[in-house]
Formats: sequence, structure tokens, C-alpha cells
Amino acid sequence: MITKGILLAGGHGTRMSPLTKAVNKQLLPIYDKPLIYYPLSVLMLAGIRDILVIVNKGQLNQFRKILSNGERLGIKINYIEQKTPRGLPDAFILGEKFIGKNNIALILGDNFFYGQSLTNKLKNCIKLKSGCKILLHSVKNPNLYGVATINKKNRILSLKEKPKNSKSNLAITGLYFFDNKVVNLSKTLKPSKRKELEIIDLLNKYKKKKKIYPEFLGRGGAWLDTGSIDDFYNTSAFVSALENRQGLKIACLEEIAFNNKWISKKEIRDAINFYGNCMYSNYLKKLI
Ligand code: G1P
Repeated sequence: MITKGILLAGGHGTRMSPLTKAVNKQLLPIYDKPLIYYPLSVLMLAGIRDILVIVNKGQLNQFRKILSNGERLGIKINYIEQKTPRGLPDAFILGEKFIGKNNIALILGDNFFYGQSLTNKLKNCIKLKSGCKILLHSVKNPNLYGVATINKKNRILSLKEKPKNSKSNLAITGLYFFDNKVVNLSKTLKPSKRKELEIIDLLNKYKKKKKIYPEFLGRGGAWLDTGSIDDFYNTSAFVSALENRQGLKIACLEEIAFNNKWISKKEIRDAINFYGNCMYSNYLKKLI
């Protein structure tokens, strides 16, 4: 069972400048809450309570202000500052001590997932004992992502980063589950042309050993990008449409913790005080 997760919230968010000059991208709003609430909610829905958040050097206090040590959400949050972004697999090198002898989940801080069967899929993924599991989802523009081709038996045939022409439309989403070998394998990676360690090289190491397995979000699921300013607005519109129609919030961390029985009504009341008089607090009030 995977009980630990890393949330990678570094990066310079250059495509979103000047919004990201002073504030980390993961703290900018997707409709009614900071972006980081969404990937964090995914780890929590998976049942993962021991979390390492990797942030840019100098931005730790911004994150602490809103998430602190996670106690108020019934989880444990540790932080590491990353001096310079060195690519996604650097998370496993920086997080070596945190990972210890465990298997590990990794979610990218700008990935948004939604869907009815999401929680069940996540619960399935954390059962991983050895090898690696990736979550695939079909997209119209696969050239913007890591892309997997699979055969009829759902076996992965190839993995390529941002291929110009790919017959496959299956993007590799930013949610990965690895066995403990990932730490040492990450250390063997060589920087690519853009001088970063590449997640695709890491995944290909697992593929070579025939130890990589796909999971599918499926047609009813949504995986949205928050790479650019337009994506931010589109994702916000998606969240706003669903939340206002259904009266149910997406990625309300306190609600997830409460449903998981990690916190009680007391912590919900504390959260209402913490947030103050706002829409989010009004929603929390309805929970208790
Ligand atoms: C990264 C990965 C890519 C993956 C994507 C998911 O790309 O390299 O394989 O599909 O995240 O968000 P980047 O966002 O760094 O371009």
C-alpha cells in the first residue's frame, strides 16, 4: 500500500508571468481556491496522509501560511525547498529521506483531475507493490504532453515526450505511482538537452524491465491543464459550472478529510475561523 506522496509545487511558471513573479503558480486561484488544493485533494482521495511538498527556494512561507503542517487537515505535510528546478525525477532525489523504504506517489502541482470513478482508480493505484503505474487520458493535442502507445491488451508499447506526430492520443498525466527503486533509478538519469532530468527517461527504465502499468481515467473523467493563463480561466470555468450547479465543491480539503474521518467537527469549526467570512466557509458550515 502506498502511504506517502510527493507534490511538486516548484517551477517558475514563466508562461504565466507577470502573475507568477511574486507568487507561486500553485497559489493562484482556480475559481474559489488555490490551485494546490486540487492536486493535494487527489492525494487525499487516494488515502495518502504523509505528504512532501517541494517548493521553490524562498517561497516556503507562502505555502506554510495556507497549509501549515497539515494537522488541521488530518494529514502530515513536510516541505523541501528546491534551489533550482532540475526536472521532475529530482523530486525522488530530494525526497530520498522522506521516501525511506516506502513506495511513493508523485503528483505535479498544476494537474487537475475530476471524475466519478477517480477515487476508486486512485485506491487501486496505491495497491502497487512493484514497478510503476501511470494514469493515461485521451487528449486532442498529445504533442503537448508525454504520450503512451498501448496494444489491445493495454500493454505499454512506447513512451515519448511531446512527440511531433503520434498515432496515440493518450497523454501521460502528472500522477505517477512508483516502487522504492525509483530513488536509485532517478540517480542514474542523465540531464536531457534542456539540462533537466526527464520523467519520460525514468518511465522508460521501468518499461525496459516490463514493469510499467497503465490506468485509465476514462471518458467520464476530466484531466485539465493549468499551464497557461487561458488554461487557468478554462479550468476555473469548469469548476465554477460544476460547483454552482451541484452545490458541491471540488477539492474541498476539509470535506475530504472529514469524510475520511481524519478530522472531526471541531477542526471544521477551526477551519471556518481560519478562512473567515467567505463562500468557502459557508460551504464548510453546511457540512456540520
Ligand atoms: C510534464 C511531463 C509530461 C506530462 C506532463 C503532465 O510536462 O514531462 O510527460 O505529460 O507533465 O502535466 P511539462 O508540464 O513539464 O511540460
